[in-house]
Amino acid sequence: MAHESSPRAALTVGLVGLGRIGTVLLTALGRFAPDVAVLASGREPERVAGAVADWPMARAVDPQELASTADLVVLCLPPQAYRAWIEALAPTMRPGAILVSVTNAVTLEDLGRWCANPVIKIIPSPAHAVGRGACLLTAGPRATAEQVERVRALFARFCRPVLTDPADARIASNLAGCAPAILAAFCASFLDANAARAQALDPEALRAMLAESVGALAALLDEGASFEDVMRRTATPGGTTEAAIDALAADGPALCARIVEATFQREAQLLGIPPPRSSPATPGTPVRG
Ligand SMILES: NC(=O)c1ccc[n+]([C@@H]2O[C@H](COP(=O)([O-])OP(=O)(O)OC[C@H]3O[C@@H](n4cnc5c(N)ncnc54)[C@H](OP(=O)(O)O)[C@@H]3O)[C@@H](O)[C@H]2O)c1
Repeated sequence: MAHESSPRAALTVGLVGLGRIGTVLLTALGRFAPDVAVLASGREPERVAGAVADWPMARAVDPQELASTADLVVLCLPPQAYRAWIEALAPTMRPGAILVSVTNAVTLEDLGRWCANPVIKIIPSPAHAVGRGACLLTAGPRATAEQVERVRALFARFCRPVLTDPADARIASNLAGCAPAILAAFCASFLDANAARAQALDPEALRAMLAESVGALAALLDEGASFEDVMRRTATPGGTTEAAIDALAADGPALCARIVEATFQREAQLLGIPPPRSSPATPGTPVRG
């Protein structure tokens, strides 16, 4: 049920665009920060109204109301749509309201030139809808320490915010924002490779087993185990798990280096800057612990 956000909530978050990540943030705020008022806008007002209908703290509004009312204006838009939105509506933002970018594909410097308000970048993850995931937070132009802390404290209610040096924005995004999707893609391939040999178990049973294993890994890591601990505890010397890990070790490092390289190349394309020099053919020193 929608309602007027009056008397004014302690914080009003404006979600510009309810696509994938806008919907994730709506869900996370609704589940874990229901005292925060949410305003949402989009190109199809009826669809936005339908999406917020389940969240009492949220209201569908037009872009003008969102821009002039929200304390945090979160641009859940494709990078290509940022400049047009900012040039049309950022001048109407309240003084002190924070423009929040969710993309690495528009530089903080550009955002600071297009918009007079403080700018903060967050790189969220779909995991926030279930109260998990790391969220990268980078202070942009004009953002004060108090404003950064305000955004960090809000996101800490449903994820693990990590203050990120812009120099490491790409790799941090890979490990936080992209990782759930990349690991899910690996799981899908591993599932397919096993399903191709299934004789009695149906696909749903196989999928449920792997999903349980992923949850088990997360639980072990939460209790302080390292990746290496999990491998050591599972792989009996001379056994089949060890054989599987050896097979992965043969191709995995080069494959992972290609995956990381693809992210650097694509980000350069999106930013319209020259492609970065390729990383070395051999991956770097393993990170242990
Ligand atoms: N998906 C993720 O997990 C994730 C994680 C971190 C960061 N991000 C960032 O989040 C941003 C949005 O990604 P997404 O995955 O949520 O994309 P998406 O599902 O395609 O949603 C994009 C939203 O932007 C709107 N939109 C598209 N083009 C527009 C335009 N020209 N003008 C105004 N609105 C426009 C769409 O409106 P319609 O519904 O009307 O098409 C939709 O609401 C991107 O910058 C992406 O890099 C995404």
